[in-house]
Amino acid sequence: MAGPSAAAYIPKQQTLTLPVLRDAAEGCEGCDLYRDATQTVFGEGPANAAVMIVGEQPGDNEDRQGRPFIGRAGELLDNVLERAGLHRREVYITNVVKHFRFERKNGRRSSLKPTMGQIRACLPWLEKEVELVRPKVLVCLGAVAAQAIISPDFRITQQRGEVFKTTWAPWTMATLHPAALLRIPDELQRHEAVERFVQDMTQVATQQHRVA
Ligand code: URA
Repeated sequence: MAGPSAAAYIPKQQTLTLPVLRDAAEGCEGCDLYRDATQTVFGEGPANAAVMIVGEQPGDNEDRQGRPFIGRAGELLDNVLERAGLHRREVYITNVVKHFRFERKNGRRSSLKPTMGQIRACLPWLEKEVELVRPKVLVCLGAVAAQAIISPDFRITQQRGEVFKTTWAPWTMATLHPAALLRIPDELQRHEAVERFVQDMTQVATQQHRVA
């Protein structure tokens, strides 16, 4: 039996555009996440971006404001992009899952990892975003994105920085999620991890001009 899916919400018209796709995603009830989330958080960025960055799912701030990567992880990402010579306005930024999955704990909403069923249900949106943007370079942030896009067996600690040719983009790479970097308690280790993140993104910045 087919599981939950966003497929039925994808507009059928032949000349699909990102704004049309985004509007359609606003009404997505393809899995149960829409019930508790505030809104769909769709990708944003130019339709002709050479680089696409894919995170896991919106966080608390993103859910309230309706934009991807605008909380603390987004701030770190913006900063690292600038240091790598990539500007946020030039890249397309999105998530594997478009609604916030959370639990309430001590009066706060804490992120919960999306289930396999929710990830699978949401993938039709990402497939269409990739079809419309056709990025040369695709960067997965964290294991959830890497396992959805590169391989279910992807091990982020061992394979971060490796380059893959995937059906999504000719040059696909995964690196750590900025939220994971922010959780490193030791200041020196955190600093080193951020520097490696800058190196990965610098590789991305170089590749965007090379990949045909
Ligand atoms: N983490 C993500 O993976 N995506 C966001 O948009 C924000 C935080």
